[in-house]
Amino acid sequence: MTEDTRIILGIESSCDDTAVSVLKGKTILSNIVSSQLIHANYGGVVPELASRNHQEFIWLTLEKALNESAINIDQVDAIAVTKGPGLLGSLMVGVSFAKGLSLVLKKPLLGVNHMKAHILAHFIEDANTTSPEFPFLCLTVSGGHTQIVKVDSPIAMTILGKTIDDAAGEAFDKAAKMLGLPYPGGPLIDKLAQSGNSLKFTFSKPKIKDLDFSFSGLKTSILYQLKKWKNDNPSFIEDNLADLCASIQKTIVDILVEKCVLSAQQTNIKHFAIAGGVSANSLLRQEFTAALNNKGIKTYIPKFEYCTDNGAMIAIAGKFLLENNITEDQGFSAQARIIF
Ligand code: KG4
Ligand code: ZN
Repeated sequence: MTEDTRIILGIESSCDDTAVSVLKGKTILSNIVSSQLIHANYGGVVPELASRNHQEFIWLTLEKALNESAINIDQVDAIAVTKGPGLLGSLMVGVSFAKGLSLVLKKPLLGVNHMKAHILAHFIEDANTTSPEFPFLCLTVSGGHTQIVKVDSPIAMTILGKTIDDAAGEAFDKAAKMLGLPYPGGPLIDKLAQSGNSLKFTFSKPKIKDLDFSFSGLKTSILYQLKKWKNDNPSFIEDNLADLCASIQKTIVDILVEKCVLSAQQTNIKHFAIAGGVSANSLLRQEFTAALNNKGIKTYIPKFEYCTDNGAMIAIAGKFLLENNITEDQGFSAQARIIF
């Protein structure tokens, strides 16, 4: 079979990153992410501001992606865009933009599921990483989702377990907020935890059966314990910030890794990947690798630039849709709550 070297544009606008990437075959030619820093002033993503910012920056982001890849827009063979899940107003900007491009260029339109794209980022060709073998399991952890997914092929995936309340990224961000850290707090907790003692504080872990997760109890446990400690010592958080970050991070990572081990045992699948924003977490990368390798399971960790939201993952996921002739027409619309 000859190699498919078609050029795909990947457009992502599901939350607070406006991203465009150019993919040729399985190689990324450019991957531009314009992150909306404005939300840090509000302690979380403000949907109205997010969609306005996408509208303002999407064209510039496309121009940058085309310039960097040295590709002319006429050379693009298909346009892939995130259809959901995400913030409706944000998704609609990307979808409308992609529809316009598809209409003008007369090229196929591909509607990509954001969570599946996080997983498929593992198939971007890269000299330093190998792609997982099918079937494999994937822990998909982002700001809005936490799932264990069985991946049989690029277009056949099944959710084996998911969070029944908050997502892992949300747990990081909400804990960070309680510690007085700005949004998004996940990366900051990771950074501060480097110099902290993860065994100094313990927080209650949920007892959820099977492969589901829960993080809302942990949030309440952190809230009440911090209240009590601050009552005894008003500068408790400042005095113990690194140790608090390390202990909270360890609790979240332990909850995630325990379920990874359980799902591998239950399915007897020997390949396991992680994906999504939280897969950038340094402790998760270490503990996940150690725990699963110890059980004879091969692990796959994404490059940092493909963990958090990006257009490259949308382009590669679009490539698999194109290969399977799964295209959209102009009547297609964004779906905020789509699952899989
Ligand atoms: O996948 P993503 O970029 O967006 C969504 O699809 O939600 O994930 C964003 C989430 C945020 O909650 C952010 O705090 C978290 O990923 N995150 C991290 C790290 N980097 C990003 N959480 C913990 N440690 C990190 N290093
Ligand atoms: Zn994401």
